[in-house]
Amino acid sequence: MLPHKLIEQRLQQAVKNVLPDADVATVLVRPCPDPKFGDYQTNALMSLAKVRKMNPRQLAADVVAKLEVGDCCEKVDVAGAGFLNFRVKPATLTATLESASRGEHLFFEAARQPRDIVVDFSSPNVAKPMHVGHIRSTILGDSLARTLRLLGHRVITDNHLGDWGTQFGMLLVGWKTLLDPASLQADPLAEMERLYKTISGQCHPEKPGFNQATLDRARTELVKLQAGDEENLAIWRDMIRLSQTQFETIYGRLGVKFDHTLGESFYHPRLRAVVDELMRSGIATESRGARAILSDGSIPPKDDPFLIHKEGEWIPNPFIIQKSDGGFNYASTDLATLAYRIETWHADEIIYVTDGRQQLHFQQLFAAFRRWHPESKIRLAHVWFGSILGEDGKPFKTRSGETIRLADLLDEAEERAFKLVSEKSPELPEAERHEIARVVGISAIKYADLLPNRQSDYVFSWDKLLALNGNTAPYLQYAYARIRSIFRKGNVGQGVPPVPPTQSPTSLQLAAPEELALARHLLNFGLVLEAVAEDYRPNFLCNYLYDLAGRFTGFYENCPVLKSEPEQRASRMVLCDLTARVLKQGLDVLGIETLEQM
Ligand code: ARG
Repeated sequence: MLPHKLIEQRLQQAVKNVLPDADVATVLVRPCPDPKFGDYQTNALMSLAKVRKMNPRQLAADVVAKLEVGDCCEKVDVAGAGFLNFRVKPATLTATLESASRGEHLFFEAARQPRDIVVDFSSPNVAKPMHVGHIRSTILGDSLARTLRLLGHRVITDNHLGDWGTQFGMLLVGWKTLLDPASLQADPLAEMERLYKTISGQCHPEKPGFNQATLDRARTELVKLQAGDEENLAIWRDMIRLSQTQFETIYGRLGVKFDHTLGESFYHPRLRAVVDELMRSGIATESRGARAILSDGSIPPKDDPFLIHKEGEWIPNPFIIQKSDGGFNYASTDLATLAYRIETWHADEIIYVTDGRQQLHFQQLFAAFRRWHPESKIRLAHVWFGSILGEDGKPFKTRSGETIRLADLLDEAEERAFKLVSEKSPELPEAERHEIARVVGISAIKYADLLPNRQSDYVFSWDKLLALNGNTAPYLQYAYARIRSIFRKGNVGQGVPPVPPTQSPTSLQLAAPEELALARHLLNFGLVLEAVAEDYRPNFLCNYLYDLAGRFTGFYENCPVLKSEPEQRASRMVLCDLTARVLKQGLDVLGIETLEQM
């Protein structure tokens, strides 16, 4: 068993001894923020003490008295307000690295209780080009799905395409009255976007170009579509097919795959039954001609998503599930989707990755679902993110103020990376430079998106994200390639990447402080993966890998590898190899490819 797992298990036992009623599943260890104090830390005792109105330091001392970790840890200290710090014994550290070098693990373990987890991400809207806003959902969702899968969960990825809804009324009017076949052939999404923009410009009563006749026609076309009109359905299918082709190209470039692409339209036949059931059970009510879910008073107003504070008063904030014209909407679709995922995929957890503007929608959705199925144990998470800003601090746009299309952004990344590679390694054949530029360009964009705290906006800067030094994808890819070149130079393990050193040493010698620091950091990989999965934050892993590369540099600059004596050389090669493997695996779950040579 890995040290952090062993410590966690023993800690949970000790807590159970002291507090027999405690839910010890919440007692977890995390990497110690400052290595001065140890390798692992837990703060769980403080919250246990708080709810019991106990003195946290006393509780910590009682737990330590029952704790049996002497075989793998130094003496455990109570710190601060009741933290416990653990420091792994050198012999345990060495043994764990040795078992990793024999290929028995890579510092993480599969979850003891694997869950069925649905990740709902990307989910662009049909007939609109994917723009930079969709990139965060796609990249974050993909890396969370990869991390959860690596940890042994059964993951189902689902692209919940916006392929049904009011935009189609307008699109149909545009298609029937304004379509330019040549433009459609040349760039289908651009043409559909033009149609949509032109017609929607006439459908907003408060805007200058408003035209009542167009609005009426859009409504009629939508009703016809939803009632199964053959002509409209055929056009709608064309629009979906054309959009899908373009989405697929982008996903291919990003290396993102989905298990399912059940768009909103898939749930259309189920919506009436869902709304009826909610009405019958009294969860939804008539509200000004519409059907909606309102507060039932069971949640304190400040946490109740069905109430909103206005002018000193709490007023209803209804979750409308059927509009007054009888039409179903985003909310009813999401309720049906949730039920389907539970019935069909037996989901234990659903993760929705969208931008922060949908927070209220998901709060209401989750609360509505809890009332509908109070018995359900499902974990529901809205993983939301902020916006991408230009260097002027305003939403990221082209110079002429248009939203940036994802395809153009990826092209530019590859072009810029190609220039950099050509400057750095002009001797490489052009095809190879293009391949490196493809990998580096796409990775740089992905990493820039994953690195910031997802809930904050971030400024998009080409120079920053492509920099070879700094916390960037190219820096980490370069660190990996550099380690691989040590193996080439040492003439060991050339060929299949990455290969453990040829002479598997019987004992690892960790003596220099840089060796120890690197080894201890390697040990944390699994805990960091777990933290990413628990909090849905890939940035933890970005920072971990960046620190890993930094510690590796410290080690490599101070501890000769190829030039040292055979035994030491073999031992240091193990450190090199494990670092390369953790880098590769870590980048892989971020959706980032590595190169053997850069
Ligand atoms: N299509 C939506 C959008 O572009 C995102 C859908 C997210 N998933 C969901 N189940 N609501 O905003």
